[in-house]
Amino acid sequence: MSTDVEGLWKKLQAAKDSKSLLKKHLTEAKFNALKGKKTSMGGTLADCIRSGCENTDSGVGIYACDPEGYTVFADVLDEVIKDYHKVDKLNHPEPKFGDITKLGFGDLDPSGNMIVSTRVRVGRSHANFGFPGVIKAEDRKEMERISVEALKTLTGDLAGTYYPLEGMTEATQKQLTDDHFLFNDSDRFLKAAGGYNDWPIGRGIFFNKNKTFLTWVNEEDHLRFISMQKGGNLGEVYARLVTAIEKLQEKLTFAKRKGLGYLTFCPSNLGTTLRASVHIKIPKLSQTPEFKEFCDKHHLQARGIHGEHTESVGGVYDISNKHRLGLTEFDAVQEMRRGVEAVIKEETKLQGKK
Ligand code: ADP
Ligand code: ARG
Repeated sequence: MSTDVEGLWKKLQAAKDSKSLLKKHLTEAKFNALKGKKTSMGGTLADCIRSGCENTDSGVGIYACDPEGYTVFADVLDEVIKDYHKVDKLNHPEPKFGDITKLGFGDLDPSGNMIVSTRVRVGRSHANFGFPGVIKAEDRKEMERISVEALKTLTGDLAGTYYPLEGMTEATQKQLTDDHFLFNDSDRFLKAAGGYNDWPIGRGIFFNKNKTFLTWVNEEDHLRFISMQKGGNLGEVYARLVTAIEKLQEKLTFAKRKGLGYLTFCPSNLGTTLRASVHIKIPKLSQTPEFKEFCDKHHLQARGIHGEHTESVGGVYDISNKHRLGLTEFDAVQEMRRGVEAVIKEETKLQGKK
C-alpha cells in the first residue's frame, strides 16, 4: 500500500475527468494543510485518500483512517459528507428506531410477485480500533474476540454461531456468498483502502439458525449487523434488527460523534449507517431511460443482485435508501418504504396491470 501522499495526489490531479467527491473537495490548499497530519493511531491523509487516488472512477473516493480521522481530516471529510448526504449542516439527530411494536408497516408486497427478499443492515465501529488501512492483524483478532463474546450472549431467535473465515472451505464461502449472506474480497475500492489486508485474519460471520440475523466481522466496517428474510416483510426484518442492536449495545460501546452519528469507515455510511433494501423484480421500470431519475427522486439507490458494483440479473435489482445521515433510523426506513411502494406502483403500471 502506497504511503507516498504526494504520488497519490499526483494521480488524482492527472485524472481530469474524475467525478469523485474526493476530487471535488480536496483542493490544493486543503491537501497542503492536511498532508502532514496524523491521528493518535498513526492514520494519515494517504490512508484516507489511497483508494480514491488509485481508483479515480470512485464515487466518493475517501475513507476515514480511524474514528479520530473524522476530526483530524475534517476539512475535507466534512465537505464530502455534506455533499454525499445532501445536508447543509452536520447535525445528525440522536438515534431513534421507533416503537417496534407499533411500526405501522409490514409486508410491502403482500402479493409476493415482486419482492424476492428484504434486508436491513447497520454498521458499527469500536472506538478504540483503527479502520482497515490502519488496524494491525493482532488488533483485528482482538476486536473479533470481543465482538464474538458479545454475539454469543444473544438468546432466543437471535442466538447463533460464529464462523471465522480462516479455516472455512472455499465451497462454503462461495455458497454463503452466492446466497447473499457472506462478503468476499473482490471490491477493488475497498482493497485499495486496505480492506483486505491480512485477509482472512479476523474476519468472519455470525448467524442464527434461520440465517435471518447475521453479523459480519471485519468486512468494510468493524461490524455489520444484518437482518434479512425472503419476501417483503420490512416490519419483521426491521424489528428483528432493532432488537439485536439493543441487546448488543448493552455489551459493546460503539464509536459515535455528535452531529455525525455512528462512525463508519466510509463517510457514505455515517449517521444511521442504515441501508434497508429489497431484491425486487422490475424488468419494465429498470429498462426505462428515466429509471435513474426515478430512483433519485425517491432518494433510492439501485444496485445489482450481488451487491454494490455488481450487475442486475433477470431484471432483479437491489433497491435501498440512499441517505443515512441527517435523519433518524425510523425515518430512513420510512423513506425506503415509501420509495419501494412507488417502485411497485410504477412497475405495475408499466406491466399494464392495475
Ligand atoms: P451492504 O453495503 O449493505 O453490506 P452490499 O451491496 O455489499 O451491501 O451487499 C451485501 C450482500 O447483501 C450482497 O450479497 C447482496 O446481494 C446482499 N443483499 C443486499 N440486499 C439484499 C436483499 N434485499 N435481499 C437479499 N440479499 C441482499
Ligand atoms: N469508495 C467507493 C467509491 O468511492 C465506495 C463508496 C461507497 N461504498 C461503500 N461500500 N462504502 O466509489
